[in-house]
Amino acid sequence: MNRPLLIAPSVLSADFSRLGEEIAAVEDAGADWIHLDVMDGHFVPNITFGAPVIAMARPASRRHFDVHLMIAPADPFLEAFAAAGADTITVHAEAGPHLDRSLQAIRKLGKRAGVALNPATPVSAIQHVIDRLDLVLVMTVNPGFGGQAFIPAMVEKIRQVKALVGDRPVDIEVDGGITAETAGSVVAAGANVLVAGNAVFRGGASAYRGNIEAIRAVAELERGERA
Ligand code: DX5
Ligand code: ZN
Repeated sequence: MNRPLLIAPSVLSADFSRLGEEIAAVEDAGADWIHLDVMDGHFVPNITFGAPVIAMARPASRRHFDVHLMIAPADPFLEAFAAAGADTITVHAEAGPHLDRSLQAIRKLGKRAGVALNPATPVSAIQHVIDRLDLVLVMTVNPGFGGQAFIPAMVEKIRQVKALVGDRPVDIEVDGGITAETAGSVVAAGANVLVAGNAVFRGGASAYRGNIEAIRAVAELERGERA
């Protein structure tokens, strides 16, 4: 019943001038998924990259590409992100009026469908689309930037998402301020996919393995998978 624990480094904190190398380096250091943050300067107050960059980065790794769309509207671009090599495509519940339609479109493209919830968005936003979902992303900071402080009130929200998901095969992902210090509480509440930007990429390439392992150790301990 327990979903596998997955560590997903966010390349937002990588050196974009060497994106392919950075992705290969975190894969080599033990990353389970690669988390790619797409920002449009409209839905969130920052701009990153789009589908062409993801397509160029795709050959760098065979790991699952977890694409987090912080863009509005998202629907006109879903096909491009699918073609670029996304495995999971996550849209924000707040980004458009037709979440049900967006999720259907993602699955129709043959991709796993995710919904992200901003800190102020209630869990009820996904109640009626729960059977169209493969992943729920609980934002543990306000999206837009790496290196922000974890919002503790989100732990209770993760519990509520876990209760809603029940036995369905749905991943519960957390994103923002995840470190070896905060990983335990989110895993205890039910999260199984941990996104981490700063906490993975700090210290340069030689530190990536230790950084990932530090988060994994805390999470596995909490799950009773490590003594
Ligand atoms: C925030 C992004 C995150 C970000 C997390 O808007 O969605 O994926 O990279 O960065 P850290 O782990 O540094 O908070
Ligand atoms: Zn993200």
